[in-house]
Amino acid sequence: MVTGERTDPPGTPEVITVVGAGVMGRGIAFAGLLTPASVRLVDVDAGQLESAVHRILADVEVGIDRGKIDAEVADRAQSHLATTTDLAAGCDGADVVIEAVVERMDVKHQVVRTAEQHAAADAVLATNTSAMSITEIIAALEDPTRGVGMHFFNPVPKMKLCELVRGLQTSPETMDRAEATARAMGKQTVRVEDIPGFATSRVNALIGNEAMRMLEEGVASAEDIDTAIKLGLNHPMGPLEMGDLVGWDTRLDILSYLESTLGERFRPTNLHRRMVAAGHFGRKSGQGVYRHHAP
Ligand SMILES: NC(=O)c1ccc[n+]([C@@H]2O[C@H](COP(=O)([O-])OP(=O)(O)OC[C@H]3O[C@@H](n4cnc5c(N)ncnc54)[C@H](O)[C@@H]3O)[C@@H](O)[C@H]2O)c1
Repeated sequence: MVTGERTDPPGTPEVITVVGAGVMGRGIAFAGLLTPASVRLVDVDAGQLESAVHRILADVEVGIDRGKIDAEVADRAQSHLATTTDLAAGCDGADVVIEAVVERMDVKHQVVRTAEQHAAADAVLATNTSAMSITEIIAALEDPTRGVGMHFFNPVPKMKLCELVRGLQTSPETMDRAEATARAMGKQTVRVEDIPGFATSRVNALIGNEAMRMLEEGVASAEDIDTAIKLGLNHPMGPLEMGDLVGWDTRLDILSYLESTLGERFRPTNLHRRMVAAGHFGRKSGQGVYRHHAP
């Protein structure tokens, strides 16, 4: 139960800015609202911000109904959430900035650079990349000791882990402050070194890619592949359902990066590439391996 009276560990931020209001950014913003901090959500697309706010408030309602969030925290959530399409304004004076924009190095470099210019002088500058090098992302900063990976999982409100990834330049203080922030959000943390794919994404991407290859080869139907992995291997979700949840566009970016850094075994399938070309991204577009209700 998250209550209004919880004691927050030292180093908990007052302003958290989340950049990117897609699948992950909205979930991270929700988790930020469980802390005493004000949360600002930034996106280049005003429509994404609007739908993110609806989704976040709906998740708050679900939390109340399930007895996981009390009314005081819910009230605070309403007044503590702000949105903007202006990155500089959204980062102004923030203590922690977490970027969750598309999985592209050039976009992440541009976002973290702007964040550094406008956030508090000692702000933690975190990236939620699934797989890309933290060291390379934070190399764009004037002061890369403040850069760190904070890797959340989808769906953020339900998933308990935040993987903290130490770039080559990340200072111990930055790791500690990132950990304090994640814990204030109610997450358990693990600390990993900066290797592409960290401890989680490289395994997840390989399983999902193998399942997609099996689908392409006609080994079994999508439903049967997912059922086999769930009931036979005791995974809570099938790998094709998981791909629909992650987004096949995001997954393609992840696999392409892992192929270029870790090797051929991460090469995406032709079926996967064709699905992305067709806009079959998964839940967020309404069609992936499976058909979904409008997002
Ligand atoms: N989807 C997952 O399951 C998952 C899990 C963990 C980590 N991640 C990582 O999180 C990040 C975001 O993934 P996602 O699935 O939420 O993607 P998404 O496509 O759902 O959302 C990305 C958002 O970023 C916005 N954006 C793009 N450029 C921007 C900019 N310059 N400034 C502000 N906003 C910008 C887009 O408008 C979009 O709303 C990626 O790095 C991804 O690898 C994804």
